[in-house]
Amino acid sequence: MTDNLRVVSDFSPDDEVMLAEVLRGLSLPNKNIPSLYFYDQRGSELFDAITELPEYYPTRTEIAILEQHGAEMAAALGPGVRLIELGSGSAVKTELLLANLDATAAYVPVEISLDHLRAAAARIAADFPDLEVLPVTADFTEPFDLPEPTRGKVRRNVAFFPGSTIGNFPRSMAADLLDATRREVGPGGAMLVGVDLEKDRATLERAYNDAAGVTAEFNLNLLVRLNRELGADFDVNGFRHEAVWDGAAGRIEMRLVSLRAQQVRIAGHPFRFEPGEVLVTEYSHKYSLAGFRALAEGAGFEVARVWTDPEQLFSVQLLVVPETAAPQSSGGGT
Ligand code: AVJ
Repeated sequence: MTDNLRVVSDFSPDDEVMLAEVLRGLSLPNKNIPSLYFYDQRGSELFDAITELPEYYPTRTEIAILEQHGAEMAAALGPGVRLIELGSGSAVKTELLLANLDATAAYVPVEISLDHLRAAAARIAADFPDLEVLPVTADFTEPFDLPEPTRGKVRRNVAFFPGSTIGNFPRSMAADLLDATRREVGPGGAMLVGVDLEKDRATLERAYNDAAGVTAEFNLNLLVRLNRELGADFDVNGFRHEAVWDGAAGRIEMRLVSLRAQQVRIAGHPFRFEPGEVLVTEYSHKYSLAGFRALAEGAGFEVARVWTDPEQLFSVQLLVVPETAAPQSSGGGT
């Protein structure tokens, strides 16, 4: 235990939410399961293994960008930052940023998984003993209260959203998330976001169809999890992993393809799969720089800086909320 760490609020979604979302997704004509459910213990381990794969360029490229330009990013943010990390996960990239930030007011990791939150918050608190760490368990797609630091003074709220997690959201939902984040950080606030960039089909499809089969195992582990946690009876060998680039939609689609006609039962509900029928498990949207700029501006941000790698595989973008933002209509909730 470290003395600069206390958990501020405590919220976690329960099994009933997962069951309801899975039943709803499997009832649709185009079956899907939210990608959020990949990340049980095993799924998180497999994702960590994915980030080390030679084909999976995003993680190492983003880390290189943060290492190379972290000082510039910190200078652009200035002192007195309340750094709010959306979906903090293991928070490895955060350390690269925090190492450069001066007189940070507080670090607020926001994470749905309490165990992950505790572990990452404790590590950051240990590595940065002068930093006030104020963890929040919340679903960051919903509004949440920002904890107040007791020591440093907050000059600016900055949301940190690395990993191209924004790519998991369909474009309209990504716009909603940016809009919600703009409200959360307020006028003068900012967002530092990792955005994976459009590129050739071969590079993209290789990144999600690695030769060692780790991504396939990660995808199929979803069924293992549903069997264990929801009492489903998926035959894990009755499905195969597939990831395809949909150029028109600008996204990688991760799928589980039924190898035969089969029926699966979950909590008494039967679901039929035809041979070759597709269950979509994840979207990973890729952006052009112009496309992401349009999205950010539509949500009321200005794109202040864009850092990329020499091959333009990935970007880290600084979005700022104008101080003089047009006043929002009172009453909110529009
Ligand atoms: C963690 C959502 C950024 O979309 O690239 C990796 C997840 N899925 N391989 C991504 C993922 C398959 C990853 N994100």
